[in-house]
Amino acid sequence: MNFHSVSSLSGTVTVPGDKSISHRAVMFGALAEGTTEISHFLKGADCLSTISCFRQMGISIEEQGEKILVHGKGLHGLQPPSQILDCGNSGTTTRLISGILAGQTFDTTLTGDSSIQKRPMKRIIDPLCQMGADIRSINQNDCAPLSISGRKLRGISYHSPVASAQVKSAILLAGLYAEGETRVTEPALSRNHTELMLSSFGASISSEQLTATLYPGQRLMAQSIQVPGDISSAAFFLAAGLLVPNSQIHLKHVGINPTRDGILHVFRQMGGTITMENLKTDGGEPVADLIVQSSSLHGTVIQGDIIPTLIDELPVIAAAACFAEGKTIIRDAAELKVKESNRIAVMTHNLKAMGADVEETPDGMIIHGGRPLHGTVIDSHGDHRIAMTFAIAGLAAQGETLIPDWDCVNISYPDFLTDLQSLIS
Ligand code: S3P
Repeated sequence: MNFHSVSSLSGTVTVPGDKSISHRAVMFGALAEGTTEISHFLKGADCLSTISCFRQMGISIEEQGEKILVHGKGLHGLQPPSQILDCGNSGTTTRLISGILAGQTFDTTLTGDSSIQKRPMKRIIDPLCQMGADIRSINQNDCAPLSISGRKLRGISYHSPVASAQVKSAILLAGLYAEGETRVTEPALSRNHTELMLSSFGASISSEQLTATLYPGQRLMAQSIQVPGDISSAAFFLAAGLLVPNSQIHLKHVGINPTRDGILHVFRQMGGTITMENLKTDGGEPVADLIVQSSSLHGTVIQGDIIPTLIDELPVIAAAACFAEGKTIIRDAAELKVKESNRIAVMTHNLKAMGADVEETPDGMIIHGGRPLHGTVIDSHGDHRIAMTFAIAGLAAQGETLIPDWDCVNISYPDFLTDLQSLIS
């Protein structure tokens, strides 16, 4: 795919449904009693991997017009799959399903694509084994494929070394099958969609600062879920609206959960004009329309507790920082190395290839902004967020930006190009 500079962007985009919330709606719907109706579900490859895993475990999931219907069979209704479960490129599918599978009465094997087979699973294997699970990394490298033998589990009180919603959620989901309370404390608060949605499905769960506690004796009841627009997808248009001159973009019905909205704080701190309209709460999740306008940006420091609230947006924030006056420092973001690609290395390499002044650090990047970028050939490393980040950089760079490995955008945003083109007059 190729991109070049544009003179303005204007119009309205309804970004696709939130990826994290779409996964959870299918998973919790499968474990609930009754039919869960999901609106604005993200039909990206990652969430389709979750659907296919649950179908393989005997859950009927239908498309009805715009909606997805999940015919749940209750906590003990899953059936043993006849084949290996394929989680594709999805870390959320792999880690959250592992938590569910740990407490079943059957054995399973799950795996995914070459990227998933390199991502760290010890972070879930360790706590789940402390709960009594039997999980083995088949290649003994702490990565998928994982073989999981269902066991009787007991609740634990776990202090997670990483602020990861996938780790927290895997443990809480195993907790649904455990005897006693299950408690997870994180070093900084990660996205809390699991806590909010489990509670709306009727689970007894409490959150206090950095600790989530799930109480025993659960039954989940089917719900009707309206998935908010994904702020991680909106992020590309927020950056594009700020960087491209003469732009104004309306983004409708975007999830602005405080555990996800770090990008709004950072872009505003950098001098970006982003306003909100129509604030409301949908199923416990705050949503709003966002309006972004072209702005002159200046550098900033991004570190500490805000990092988990913008972890997936750091690639596009780093690209925007190249167009800002002065220095931007990103710290405490070593987690970026274990995402769909090593996002610190890949971002640094690609931004440099476009002429930016960027240094890689062990836990982030230092970006000296203000140098004009020029188009070049970009290797996305099959990482959807890298591909879309460089599409946006290409809109503000001189010359042509070519992204040959483009199909990966289907992971989280299959209509990205159509939505982008609708803003170009
Ligand atoms: C996710 C949590 C984050 C995020 C990922 C989705 C989730 O990962 O990067 O895209 O749905 O729970 P970690 O929890 O591992 O940081």
